[in-house]
Amino acid sequence: MAKYTVVTMPGDGIGNQVLPEALRLLRAVGFDAKYVHADIGWDCWCREGNALPERTSDLLAKHKLGLFGAITSKPKKQAEAELRPELQGKCYTYFSPIVTMRQRFHLDTCIRPCISFPGNPLNFIRKKPSGGFEEPRINVVVFRQNTEGLYAGVEWTSPPEQVRAALATHPKFKPFTSVAGTDLAISVRIITRPAAQKICRAAFEWAKKYGYRSVTICEKPNVLRETSGMMEDEAKQVAREFPGITLWSTNIDAQTMWLTKNPEDYGVVVASNLFGDVISDAFAGLIGGLGFAASGNIGDEVAVFEPTHGSAPKYAELDPPIVNPIAMFLSAAMMLDHVGETDKALRIREAIAAVVSEGKVRSYDMMRIPGGASAIRQGAASTTEMTDAVLAKLHGQTLSQDDSAELAGAQARR
Ligand code: NAI
Ligand code: MG
Repeated sequence: MAKYTVVTMPGDGIGNQVLPEALRLLRAVGFDAKYVHADIGWDCWCREGNALPERTSDLLAKHKLGLFGAITSKPKKQAEAELRPELQGKCYTYFSPIVTMRQRFHLDTCIRPCISFPGNPLNFIRKKPSGGFEEPRINVVVFRQNTEGLYAGVEWTSPPEQVRAALATHPKFKPFTSVAGTDLAISVRIITRPAAQKICRAAFEWAKKYGYRSVTICEKPNVLRETSGMMEDEAKQVAREFPGITLWSTNIDAQTMWLTKNPEDYGVVVASNLFGDVISDAFAGLIGGLGFAASGNIGDEVAVFEPTHGSAPKYAELDPPIVNPIAMFLSAAMMLDHVGETDKALRIREAIAAVVSEGKVRSYDMMRIPGGASAIRQGAASTTEMTDAVLAKLHGQTLSQDDSAELAGAQARR
């Protein structure tokens, strides 16, 4: 019997292209796992009125470990229009399955490493005052609170009367009291102290474990005094438990500016849900963008790993597929770390690093050419060729291990 069971959820579009490639790598490093497929995404919504079917939730509840590709989400009206005719008008509401999954399984800690690979032509460079360019080494890990904040899902257009009445008790709501319900959309930003404390503590613990000297709380407490204020307060409280690690506090707007000025100054960054989503994409842009951005959604019991990118529908039908599978590979490596198979995770990262630095095999995004069918003709590697290149490096590692074992044996025999 396999040591682990992984629930694989390729989802929509390019999720179906990159996830199977990650399984090739996991097999190649000898990860002792069985893979159980689970449905998720737009087709499930259209056919069943539920983008995260109960059978998928049950599998996750049972096996606790998931690999997820990507899903397609469409706006409200389109979602209703694409629902199977028999289900239309029957009170089915589309919810993003990944957001629902994070909430249902309390996957409250989202970890998004943004670490540059030397030799990646997409790495951020900046002009030196003395002339020429320099490429700062970026090693940032964003901790995003994953279940609350503006993504808690408490929102209305045309809010019910009780909600309006409650809001009217706040003096700042006065200018909005006369707005017609249909003209009024409200999303509630909810921060709870335990969740704020938990994400801040997770960030500091990571900093301690991996030797980062600073944790930056990235919020906007000067304006969002209550919610960002609570995040910052908790960060300050937690910081006291970690005397060797400096707490910096930045505002989300200023942070997006500073990260292109001095990205190498940042280590662990912690933020609430929306700000964490924004700032992790911003940092990911400095290390290669969506083709390199991996993430883990970690709960107390269940953990699901996924590339940050979406389903990229415009590339989903291309044959051969052209998208970069590295973000998915790095997500699989995070899964290996999570279950304690750190040597296998390291091997995958080292193999990716070798392919990137060698620069012979590059997907279209790494060549900075437009995606599409012509990308391959212009010399871009397909998704499968990228995997093949990483696999070749993995096999190279295995060979050299074998070689060294043989050498050791030969020496012992002498
Ligand atoms: P996207 O991430 O799917 O794609 C944006 C663009 O980034 C693509 O057109 C492509 O140029 C590039 N890209 C993405 N992944 C890439 C890869 N692996 N290699 C190379 N290039 C890559 O975002 P978009 O177009 O805004 O959304 C498409 C759909 O995905 C939407 O329905 C959206 O709701 C959904 N989405 C789902 C997410 C998830 O599953 N967690 C996250 C983001 C978007
Ligand atoms: Mg995002």
